[in-house]
Amino acid sequence: MRTPIIAANWKMHKTVTEALEFVEQLAGLLDTGNTETVICPPFPLLGCVAEACHKYGLRVGAQNMYWEATGAFTGEVSPLLLKDLAVDYVIIGHSERRQLFAETDQHVARKVKAAFAHDLTPIVCVGETLQQRQAEQTMDVVGEQVTVAVTGLDPSQVRRMVIAYEPVWAIGSGLAATGKDANEVACYIRKTIGELFSLKVARDVRLQYGGSVKPENIADFMQETDVDGALVGGAALDSAKFAGIINGVIGANS
Ligand code: 13P
Repeated sequence: MRTPIIAANWKMHKTVTEALEFVEQLAGLLDTGNTETVICPPFPLLGCVAEACHKYGLRVGAQNMYWEATGAFTGEVSPLLLKDLAVDYVIIGHSERRQLFAETDQHVARKVKAAFAHDLTPIVCVGETLQQRQAEQTMDVVGEQVTVAVTGLDPSQVRRMVIAYEPVWAIGSGLAATGKDANEVACYIRKTIGELFSLKVARDVRLQYGGSVKPENIADFMQETDVDGALVGGAALDSAKFAGIINGVIGANS
């Protein structure tokens, strides 16, 4: 059984005060159940958010990292430092990183390897643009992104990783994919992992959907066979909305 995983990607939002207030409010709103919750704040908030989250069994993730452990890389943040701050997860290859900061599939692959080398669990983002979807290239694009990201990994690592399918056109647009469309791509990702590794590995890897997820549509995704959770942007900035999403998943599973 794959444990559902709901992650908040705060992107470049929230101050220290707002972040700590959010964690306290969220903890007070959550039902108990078998769902993993991850908060991914901006880098400077990781230490204090981790301390607050760990009191309540919430996990913490970074939104990016560099692949080297130390060195002359001005402005970068290393996996070693994330580990030192008690961070558990790291988002890698978000479409905003790919589009605005020129991250390539090869960068993603190096970061994924570095994450595992430092015992961090990567949440690898993949997804097609609107243009690629309209040209019916979705499976090719996502297949290639997944294949490069997992190249050279051990099966035991792939089993532990999380892959977030985030169609670029659905991010921040209010226009979510349908559950059926998300599941179709999730199935394809699982099939790709199955061919590259084994059925057992494919069965264990957890797949999220991301893109305009909110309390009102989370059930559409979670009822699908191959979607195990969500990576949430806008709706994860509001503790009541984010709690609504998590409690929706817990309710569906109990
Ligand atoms: P929205 O939920 O705001 O569409 O953002 C999704 C996202 O980019 C999460 O990583």
